[in-house]
Amino acid sequence: MGLEPFTPGDAIFEDEDILRDSHQPETLLEREDELKEYQSALQPIINGARPRNIFLYGQTGVGKTVATDMIIDRLQIDQEKIDNLDIHAVNIICKNLTTSYQVAVKLANRFRSKDERLPPTGYPPDTVYEFLWEHLKEIDSTHVLLILDEIDAVGEDDNILYELPRCNDNGNVPPEMTKVGVIGISNNFTFREQLSARVTDSLCDEEIHFPPYDSDQLRSILRQRAKRAFIDDVLEDDVIPLTAAIAGQESGSARQALKLLFKAGDIARSDGAESVDESHVREAEPLIKEGKVKSELQSLPAQSHVTLYALLRLHAKDELPAKTGKIYEEYKKATSHFEAEEKTDRTIRNRLNQLSLKGFLSVDEKNMGARGGSYYVYQFGVRPKLIQNVLENLDRVEI
Ligand SMILES: Nc1ncnc2c1ncn2[C@@H]1O[C@H](COP(=O)(O)OP(=O)(O)O)[C@@H](O)[C@H]1O
Ligand SMILES: [Mg+2]
Repeated sequence: MGLEPFTPGDAIFEDEDILRDSHQPETLLEREDELKEYQSALQPIINGARPRNIFLYGQTGVGKTVATDMIIDRLQIDQEKIDNLDIHAVNIICKNLTTSYQVAVKLANRFRSKDERLPPTGYPPDTVYEFLWEHLKEIDSTHVLLILDEIDAVGEDDNILYELPRCNDNGNVPPEMTKVGVIGISNNFTFREQLSARVTDSLCDEEIHFPPYDSDQLRSILRQRAKRAFIDDVLEDDVIPLTAAIAGQESGSARQALKLLFKAGDIARSDGAESVDESHVREAEPLIKEGKVKSELQSLPAQSHVTLYALLRLHAKDELPAKTGKIYEEYKKATSHFEAEEKTDRTIRNRLNQLSLKGFLSVDEKNMGARGGSYYVYQFGVRPKLIQNVLENLDRVEI
């Protein structure tokens, strides 16, 4: 029937789940200084004092989430031995929550039972904050730590980062009832600069930066994981150094390094190879890159998706590269497909510029000859098929 039978057995992986993102390593390597800083920022809690608010930032894949999980676990264990201390930690991932309101609702719901959940819209924002203060006051703990991971999604709508960290100060939640601390975690480097001054003042008692890993650090992180993930001796000697070098140069992300190592192993396994070697890593590299581009494409704002769709239409008619005006005409038609609001051509000019900066489009400047002046033409900077795939899966639009 053309299909190979499924047979158990794996000549490469001992336990491939160890390479997954969700796997928590036993120890966090190469982050001693950052962990020390993190722990000392939390020390006041253990002393029974009010928590300091913490802002943790660094690009994706540098260990922010895993470090936080480990430290909170540790805190929960150690507090058991201390009288009159009861720390309650609430951790939410704010990815896709683009307003403070949405974050407040998600947070409030963590204190509410299933049949009391707040709907995503419908309440005045003040009411949602009121609910939150009530929950925080009522909880039977001395301390509450609110961990807002990937908080950069809220962008400029950062009111919650003002309200939460100061709820003890302004009496919304009297510290005698519950001492509240906020840990805001951001993947986005520029988010820190964007924060309004009042937010910086209340949230950033402590700022902790997680820098990207260099190749040496990635090598030791990969070694630790590979030991249990792969069958003994199936990794050729140059595989980890090469994987670490590629990821170190490109992103400094442990997540990317682990993905690349997994993919190399996966390719070796499908090839029926007895070991994983350099060629498997080389083959895996473009696939991982493409995956990264895809996820970046997915997370673009809706108006960028509409703009890209317009370019796809022009591409289908063989009309790329195209001038801004032409793209804008096509964009206007595209808005109805997406049921999107129609923005001005200035906004779309901006979008085109953003998309070029990110490398999804490439731009050329054309001179108008004797008349002087110049204009821009755009075309795709990545394979159009890739963009089409992403858009199709995203909005189920027929393209
Ligand atoms: N220092 C480290 N030691 C071991 N594994 C790490 C380390 N840093 C990151 N990782 C692993 O890399 C992946 C990404 O880490 P994560 O904490 O999710 O990154 P971030 O939250 O900064 O995006 C996870 O699988 C994590 O276990
Ligand atoms: Mg994270």
